[in-house]
Amino acid sequence: MTKFISIQEAINKGKGKVAVRGWIYRERGSNKLRFLVLRDSTNLLQCVLDRKKFEKQWDEIDKLQVEASVEIEGTIKADKRAPTGYEISVDKLNIVGISNGFPIQKDLNEELLGDRRHLWLRSRKMISSLKIRSTVLFAFHELMRKKGFTEIEAPSLSGATSEGGSETFELKYFGKKAYLTQSWQFYAENFINAVEKAYAIAPSFRAEKSKTPWHVTEFWHFELEGAWMNLKDDMDIAEECIIYAIDKVLKENKVELETLGADIPMLKQVKAGFKRITYEEAIKKLKEKGHKIKHGDEFGAHEERGLAKYYGDKFVFVTNYPLTLLKFYHGEDLKKPGTGTNFNLLAPSIGELVDGSQREPSLEKIQERLKKAKMDLGASDWYLDSRRYGSVPHAGFGLGVERFVAWICGFDTIKDAIPFPRTPNRLNP
Ligand code: 4AD
Ligand code: MG
Repeated sequence: MTKFISIQEAINKGKGKVAVRGWIYRERGSNKLRFLVLRDSTNLLQCVLDRKKFEKQWDEIDKLQVEASVEIEGTIKADKRAPTGYEISVDKLNIVGISNGFPIQKDLNEELLGDRRHLWLRSRKMISSLKIRSTVLFAFHELMRKKGFTEIEAPSLSGATSEGGSETFELKYFGKKAYLTQSWQFYAENFINAVEKAYAIAPSFRAEKSKTPWHVTEFWHFELEGAWMNLKDDMDIAEECIIYAIDKVLKENKVELETLGADIPMLKQVKAGFKRITYEEAIKKLKEKGHKIKHGDEFGAHEERGLAKYYGDKFVFVTNYPLTLLKFYHGEDLKKPGTGTNFNLLAPSIGELVDGSQREPSLEKIQERLKKAKMDLGASDWYLDSRRYGSVPHAGFGLGVERFVAWICGFDTIKDAIPFPRTPNRLNP
C-alpha cells in the first residue's frame, strides 16, 4: 500500500519519491503540461504532469478543476519558481473526487462568502485560523490541568438569566421559558466550594444587536474560578494563560502565522508583567489624550483600544472600576471604597479581552447591592447558596476565545476566528 505523507513532510524531505494527497488549489497548463497546485491541511505544493506520461488519462486530467481531490505519486525537488519552493514531477495520479464549478471564485463579497462558509473553510486563511484556534484551546486546557484546575461544564440551557436581561436569548421549553447561558460563572461560584479550582471552555450566547467586528452572538468563553484566590492571583493567571497560549502558537503554528502574515515579532515580544492601572488612572490618561470622558463613565471601544495604545501598544489591566458600573457579584475594594476588586484586560486593536474579579463573598453585601440595583435573582437565587454555606474568598474571569485568536492572527474581525460565526443576520450555514 502506498504510504502517503503530508505536503509539509514532503517539502521537508525535499527530494526523492513521495506520495501526497489533497485538493487542487490552482490549476493551469497547456496541451503538453499541466501544473496542479495541491493543498492539504499542512501546505501547498506544485505538481507537474507531462502529457507524455499520461496520454491515456489526459482527457480526465485536462478536465480537473479547483477543489477536486487527488492522490499523487512522483519525485519532489526544489524549484524556486514554485509557490512553496518545491515541485513534484508526477508519475501517478489518482482522481478521488471530481469538482465541478467550485462556487468560490476571486472577489466574492462578505455576504456570499458567508453563504458559502462551509466551503470557505478550505481557504488558506481559514485553515490557518482554525489551526491556531485549536492550539489556543489546547494551551488553555493544558495549562489549567497543570495548575490543578478541574474542568466542569455548566448547562447551556437554564430557567433563569445570569449576566443581564436584554442580552439573553429566550426560548420555549415545554411550555416554560428557558434561556441560553451568557456565562458559566454562577455555576462556577458553586463548583469552587466543591473542587476549589474549576474551569470550562464553552459557548456563551449574547443577544446583542451590536454589529461591531468584535461581537458575535455565540462565542467561546474560557472561564475559570478559584477558591481562596484574590484579584492579584486572578490577573496573574489571566496573564499566564495568554503568554502560555502565545508561546504554544509560536512553536506549533509557524506556517499558519506566516500564511496569515501575522506579526510574529510582536507576538514574541509579549512578556509577563502586563501594565496594571486603576480606572482612575485610566480616566486621567484618556483626558490627557483628549478623550471626552469623566469619572463614572463607561469606556467605549475607542477608549479601550486607546488605552492599550497609550501604554505602549501592549496588554493593560484596568482595575477598580466604580461599583456603579459593575454587576452585584464583583467585590468591593475596602482600601478604595466605592470601587471594585475587578479588572478588564485590554488588548491593542481589540479592546476588552478578559473580564474578571475577586467576587463579593458576603451574602449581606450582595443582597444590599441587589436591592440598590432593584434586582431580584428570582429562579437564580440558588446562586447565593455559595455565600450561605461556607462562603470563601474567590475570584475568576472570562476570556473571549475568538477575540484572542483574532488578535494573534491580526484579523480585523472575530468572525474570522470561528468556523461558523453567528451574528444578528447570520444563522446559516
Ligand atoms: O465581560 P463578560 O460579559 O464577562 C462575563 O461574562 C463574566 N461572567 C466572566 C467571568 O467572570 N466568568 O464576557 C467575558 C469576555 C469579554 O471580555 C469578551 O472577551 C468576551 O467574553 N465576549 C464576547 N466575545 C465575542 N462576542 C461577544 N458578544 C462577547 N461578549 C463578551
Ligand atoms: Mg465585560
